Amino acid sequence: MSNQPIRDSALAAENILRSSRHWELLQKRMVKNMQRSVFRVDGRYVAKKYELPLIVRLRRLPWTIEDACLRRLDGDDAPRSFGWLEEIEADRRVVWLLKEYIAGYPVSVFVPSDVPDVARLLARIHSRRIITDDAHPQNFIRSLDGRLMFTDFGRARLHFCHGPFLFVRIGWELAKLRRQGFQWDPDLWASFHPIYFRELGCSAPSRALIWISCEIAIGVRMARKTLQGKASRS
Ligand SMILES: Nc1ncnc2c1ncn2[C@@H]1O[C@H](COP(=O)(O)OP(=O)(O)O)[C@@H](O)[C@H]1O
Ligand SMILES: [Mg+2]
Repeated sequence: MSNQPIRDSALAAENILRSSRHWELLQKRMVKNMQRSVFRVDGRYVAKKYELPLIVRLRRLPWTIEDACLRRLDGDDAPRSFGWLEEIEADRRVVWLLKEYIAGYPVSVFVPSDVPDVARLLARIHSRRIITDDAHPQNFIRSLDGRLMFTDFGRARLHFCHGPFLFVRIGWELAKLRRQGFQWDPDLWASFHPIYFRELGCSAPSRALIWISCEIAIGVRMARKTLQGKASRS
């Protein structure tokens, strides 16, 4: 890498990159004008590489968001972060986010036996005032010792206090989970919500706000899809 480091949020990330030996590509994809590659490094770390043209200005930086969430969770229910490193290569920005590798089994779809763990995991993440905004099965991993963990906080929202806005956002997240995660399966949702609310342990008004926000988010999306001439549950 012949380039000029312009910012270094953690020396640990740089040290891991410089001393790494064995790289294995796990995933590569283009999202808008950003290339995202995910590598397993030395069997112990995950390096997430973001490549984008210098002229592109992002409103939210996924690496800083993911790093902040992982640091807040501090190894609970998610990998630890070793920080991120930003470099300039000609007219491109390259950012590396380094995190702990979780040995285990990526989840591809949720089956009924996953639901209690999904409910408890999301409730714990939400109670730390983090909304993942991306709770689809491929972002969960079952570790070798059987724990369910969440791996992708690139779209997440961090809240600094408990309040109505947090509960509204939780409702949106649950609406998305019902659609993307549970594929509208009513049985999965019916077994999810009692466990989720018990674990979350919030007040009755907060719970009502989450519930109402979830139903409104679903209603609005269905209305939009219908107006677009598409299936309401697409
Ligand atoms: N810490 C991790 N440990 C093990 N596997 C991981 C880890 N982070 C990501 N992965 C694997 O890499 C895939 C892509 O990572 P992800 O963070 O979801 O990238 P993207 O932001 O491109 O969706 C995940 O679906 C998961 O299988
Ligand atoms: Mg992902």
